[in-house]
Amino acid sequence: MTQHPKIYVAGHRGMVGSAIVRHLLANGHPAESIVTRTHAELDLTNQAAVCAFFVAEKPDQVYLAAAKVGGIHANNTYPAEFIYQNLMIQANVIDAAFRNGVQKLLFLGSSCIYPKLADQPMREDALLTGALEPTNEPYAIAKIAGIKLCESYNRQYGASHDVDYRSVMPTNLYGPGDNYHPENSHVIPALIRRFHEAKLANAPSVAIWGTGTPKREFLYVDDMAAASVHVMNLPKATYDRHTSPMLSHINVGHGQDVSIAEATQIIAQVVGYTGAVTFDATKPDGTPRKWMDSSRINSLGWQAKVNLRQGLNLAYQDFLKNHQ
Ligand SMILES: NC(=O)c1ccc[n+]([C@@H]2O[C@H](COP(=O)([O-])OP(=O)(O)OC[C@H]3O[C@@H](n4cnc5c(N)ncnc54)[C@H](OP(=O)(O)O)[C@@H]3O)[C@@H](O)[C@H]2O)c1
Repeated sequence: MTQHPKIYVAGHRGMVGSAIVRHLLANGHPAESIVTRTHAELDLTNQAAVCAFFVAEKPDQVYLAAAKVGGIHANNTYPAEFIYQNLMIQANVIDAAFRNGVQKLLFLGSSCIYPKLADQPMREDALLTGALEPTNEPYAIAKIAGIKLCESYNRQYGASHDVDYRSVMPTNLYGPGDNYHPENSHVIPALIRRFHEAKLANAPSVAIWGTGTPKREFLYVDDMAAASVHVMNLPKATYDRHTSPMLSHINVGHGQDVSIAEATQIIAQVVGYTGAVTFDATKPDGTPRKWMDSSRINSLGWQAKVNLRQGLNLAYQDFLKNHQ
């Protein structure tokens, strides 16, 4: 009989955590070997509670997909919450995992760890080479600290305790379980919601901020879950060959980016909005291009499978299920 590892998915009700659980179950991992706790059951900023949880459950592996997450508006409005909560969650989970014998852990970071003016596509070695985007600097600093926590535990305890903690940096994600909050959401869920509401209201036009020319990369969340499990399960020798002890994180992107105008057009079609779409060039555009170099993970045998139109169709079906 196969012995399945006991896996703790932190943040299993979030968009990424729920996709990781779906992926594990779909690939034959038994539900009874997956451990989860809701935020209400276990506040990961509470060190004592996190320690007690690890002592009681003794998981073999941890996916750290719990975090305080949000768009520009939320990051700008609640910077203290973004840096404090993310630092606490990571430090508590990573240290408690180590103290309770967890040898394999995967930390989920974000593409905002890279400098504002990083060369495109952004390579892993762009980390810490320049100033960050000020609007989400506190969040990015916490995420960089998460990578460095993993690397430091590996460097100090790798040989003595077989600690092998890895990090993945996803590009912009979307899909089932996304956050459609009118103010605190990312660009794709915000556009899905706006076009859906415009369709219901028979609005003659929808105005989009900026020129529509900036390019962005979007990855369907189930592709991200597959990448996470893939990286977690890579043999150590393979992972070590493609990374280095102080540059160990792995980008996960779709590989192709699209202009905001193209993404907007596909979303309008998927939602079935037939009015006009206008671009308000008096509003700021932001960075012209944000695109990950995913050659490291591609050479490790993972590739995105879901294209933007397919992914948006699936995302909109999920939106309708939850917002009727
Ligand atoms: N979404 C993206 O586009 C994107 C892009 C790149 C990277 N990522 C990364 O992927 C990870 C997951 O993101 P996501 O989009 O899945 O976020 P999400 O949907 O907001 O899920 C985050 C989860 O963490 C839980 N959580 C937050 N604070 C907690 C706490 N103190 N104690 C216990 N649980 C807590 C949340 O529970 P409650 O909701 O109950 O608080 C939620 O279930 C994050 O590390 C994020 O940086 C996401």
